[in-house]
Amino acid sequence: MKNHVWRPLFVVIGVVIAILLFRAVYVPSDFGAQDRGYTFGYHRLSNEQEWKDYPGKYKGSDYCRECHDDKVEEVSSSQHEMIPCENCHGAAFDHPDDPEKLVIDRSRGLCIRCHTKLTMPSSGRNDIPGIDPTKHNVGEMCSECHNPHSPSLEDM
Ligand code: HEC
Ligand code: HEC
Ligand code: HEC
Ligand code: HEC
Repeated sequence: MKNHVWRPLFVVIGVVIAILLFRAVYVPSDFGAQDRGYTFGYHRLSNEQEWKDYPGKYKGSDYCRECHDDKVEEVSSSQHEMIPCENCHGAAFDHPDDPEKLVIDRSRGLCIRCHTKLTMPSSGRNDIPGIDPTKHNVGEMCSECHNPHSPSLEDM
């Protein structure tokens, strides 16, 4: 064969070798298809522990039990039992060290994001009892009349 055939072939072989060398140096040894197989399993195994060690902003309602057990009891036996505390009070981070106190939001906006009566039927959202915020006791805070931790109308 002529030189003009060989030369480009050497170039291609050279590029392939360069790519393989680059991969050998830069791809971590624990990268690969792990337990979950070839479909979604490609990741660096040590990355799992790195994410587990990552401090979460949200702690979950059980975390509040240690110091606010009265509130946890109250909410968990109310109609709001499925709402995590932090959904209304914001992420706990390292509370009570930092921040010392969590937010107490008494705005109507906190409640009407779930309780505005929708005029069109929708999925499960319509099952939440709704009011028309432009008519229902306008200008007053919801928590003046409703207990956010135990909102049953019978307890009012
Ligand atoms: C280790 C104890 C501890 C834990 C756990 C804890 N808190 Fe607190 N929390 C406190 C202390 C102490 C204060 C300050 C109390 C004060 O000044 O009245 C506080 C204040 C608050 C306040 C403000 C109260 C006010 O009157 O201004 C809210 C709201 C609150 N916590 C919600 C939560 C929620 C929600 C959780 C769970 C995600 C939680 N806390 C977990 C100890 C704790
Ligand atoms: C639906 C929203 C909502 C949820 C869910 C909720 N809170 Fe509250 N929380 C409020 C509002 C609003 C106030 C202010 C009440 C007021 O003005 O009387 C408040 C007040 C508080 C206070 C301080 C005032 C007090 O009553 O002593 C603490 C502490 C608190 N919440 C903790 C919790 C904890 C712990 C949970 C979860 C178990 C929780 N909250 C769940 C909305 C909520
Ligand atoms: C994340 C959504 C959500 C937020 C935020 C929320 N609620 Fe609710 N609320 C619900 C759900 C869900 C129910 C229970 C519906 C059921 O029992 O079927 C409920 C029930 C109620 C009820 C009882 C209604 C009845 O007909 O018995 C009242 C009153 C109420 N909430 C007031 C409030 C107030 C006041 C706030 C603000 C402090 C608030 N809610 C914030 C979802 C929410
Ligand atoms: C002045 C007191 C007062 C204020 C303020 C108030 N409510 Fe009410 N709310 C009531 C009373 C009383 C009822 C029961 C009778 C009725 O349906 O009007 C009620 C009923 C409800 C119901 C049940 C509706 C149903 O069809 O089952 C929801 C949900 C509700 N309120 C949410 C809110 C929200 C959200 C706010 C703030 C945006 C708010 N309320 C402000 C007094 C109040």
